[in-house]
Amino acid sequence: MRMGLERAFMDGMCLGNDMSIQSIAVLGAGQMGNGIAQVAACAGYDVTMIDINQDYLDKGMVAVKNSLSRVVKKERMNQDDADLAIAKISTSTHKNAASSADLVIEAIPEIPELKFSTFSEFDEICKPDAILASNTSSISINAIAKATNRPERVIGMHFMNPVPVMKLVEIINGSATSPEVTQLVLDACEKMDKIPLSCNDSPGFVSNRILCPMINEAILTLEEGVAEPEAIDGIMKLGMNHPIGPLALADLIGLDTILHIMNVLYEGFDKDPKYKPSQLLEDMVVEGKLGRKTGSGFYNYE
Ligand code: 3HC
Repeated sequence: MRMGLERAFMDGMCLGNDMSIQSIAVLGAGQMGNGIAQVAACAGYDVTMIDINQDYLDKGMVAVKNSLSRVVKKERMNQDDADLAIAKISTSTHKNAASSADLVIEAIPEIPELKFSTFSEFDEICKPDAILASNTSSISINAIAKATNRPERVIGMHFMNPVPVMKLVEIINGSATSPEVTQLVLDACEKMDKIPLSCNDSPGFVSNRILCPMINEAILTLEEGVAEPEAIDGIMKLGMNHPIGPLALADLIGLDTILHIMNVLYEGFDKDPKYKPSQLLEDMVVEGKLGRKTGSGFYNYE
């Protein structure tokens, strides 16, 4: 979490007109969207969080306030700075609220057609030099860029969950993304106190191409009765120094998301069996056992 909003504001004042990205619109107030709005506001950006209904926005703002109060309790930020960050976030149910943003970060559900239509719409709404970024975990940036008339200003900004805590932003360059856009986005990530690392567009990018098959393998290990969830997770935590085990991580990410990403990898790599989703993962998604968000997955959360 970035310390000292005053410093961020002073940086902004010193840079004056040279600061290319000053305002950010975040599309989606869910787990990822509200986290992105929070870190952007803490960096001193003017943030507009947009969602389809006020209830989602209100819940998103509650999540931001709860997260910031954890940070204040840990004495990593004072209450005045937290209040200042909260005041930097405005909310809207109107898409036009993104019309003056320098950078738009989309964090809506992972439904390809929904992403394409959203990018096409925001291409019309936003000013011509605005950068349109997607927080997609698996959908091709080139395919998203094709839905716009500005493919050179479309890029992937893949934040990790939980956004306020995780340092990485995976930057995905489409084949048309301009180097200037990449640099502006790298700078914005650093200002948000994140570490951006770049890759090219490819199924699962880097993070999920490696992470999701590992989680799928842990689910296969459970399905085959090799060990109980606590043992599988414990072995990976204690033996490999992972902060949480793969099954607990699947519950945190959402089993529907893991299944979706495995299917993207399976299709994207010509049905290579190493990416085939496990039967247990498919069954649990059908049963609605999606992890933390539904109260049960590999563990119970009620
Ligand atoms: N806001 C602010 N601070 C938070 C927070 C939040 N939402 N959640 C946790 N924290 C802080 C806590 O206050 C605590 O601070 P401290 O170190 O000063 O005590 C610290 O983070 C650790 O939190 P907890 O003590 O509550 O719990 P844990 O020690 O279990 O840590 C965790 C929680 C950081 C989430 C840890 O379990 C972890 O690192 N898990 C792995 C996360 C991961 O791998 N994420 C990537 C997922 S993949 C992804 O997102 C890509 C997608 O496309 C699938």
